[in-house]
Amino acid sequence: MIDHPKILITRKYPAAGINLLEQERFRLTFWDQDRPMTPEELAAEAKDHQALLCTLTDRIDKPFLDRCSHLEIISQFAVGYDNIDIPEATRKKIPVGFTPDAMSEATADIAFGLMIAAARKFFFLHKTILTGQWGHFNPTGHLGFELKGKTLGILGLGRIGIKMAQRCSAAYDMPVIYHNRNRNLAAEKQLGARHVPLDQLLEQSDILSVHCALTPETRHIFDARAFRKMKPSAVFINTARGPIHHEPDLIEALNQKQIWGAGLDVTDPEPMAKDNPLLSMENVCVLPHVGSGTMEARDQMSVLAAQNIIEFYNTGKVPHIVNPEVLA
Ligand code: GLV
Repeated sequence: MIDHPKILITRKYPAAGINLLEQERFRLTFWDQDRPMTPEELAAEAKDHQALLCTLTDRIDKPFLDRCSHLEIISQFAVGYDNIDIPEATRKKIPVGFTPDAMSEATADIAFGLMIAAARKFFFLHKTILTGQWGHFNPTGHLGFELKGKTLGILGLGRIGIKMAQRCSAAYDMPVIYHNRNRNLAAEKQLGARHVPLDQLLEQSDILSVHCALTPETRHIFDARAFRKMKPSAVFINTARGPIHHEPDLIEALNQKQIWGAGLDVTDPEPMAKDNPLLSMENVCVLPHVGSGTMEARDQMSVLAAQNIIEFYNTGKVPHIVNPEVLA
């Protein structure tokens, strides 16, 4: 590298990756406030930088890309990239890196944990203690259900979905059905997972866990029609992206007892309002989008995000790239 490119770093990311960038003597500008930049701030800050290290709360849309078409690379600290207008970045020939695999274990743990938490009403029962309502042992009060042998349905059996399926299969002997655009033959072989049409997934799952990307096809795929098809005993788990479910329809389905419960690590909008009815439902557990929130995952994400930039400037390749056609 002759002159060291300037990178705008939009949040405080773990040191593991930032150190790598410093070692390569990139010039780093840090946004040091404890909030994402507004679109205006982001565009203004990015103006005199060649590279951007950003994350899911940064809106990299067409207006931003029109103003910042000089960017040489965008490196996203996340596996999901629905905050980025990928077709527009591709038209402008800007490669977009991302960080797959780094958080698969961590996110599957959250899905698995939410499944148990919802089936046994963890969050609601915790609240009864906080509000002085523990009372006496009640032989018939607030009963949950057991997971042994229940059918796990997965929408999007990819990197994270397979980890959830492995956990459920090993812990509770749960048969696995799934719906994907393409069949996952490795999972079929390893876990006996069965590929089924979407309607069958809805009708047969006892636990339905979402692990697909947010795309125009999956936005609001869980709407009133979908919830009506699900079992009244089913638990809906979403650790992928909030807009994959239509939140008013989910609330209605739970109120009407069309499904039994829900475990959400993602909501729409985020952050969720503190008076959202989901938060006071007995069979619902909500977390504030912390799927990748382990030290291990976040360190690894920062390393991958840094490597995407370093490799790009050193070799012209981006190891984890969303739009490889840009570099072809
Ligand atoms: C988190 O939601 C991610 O996409 O990495």
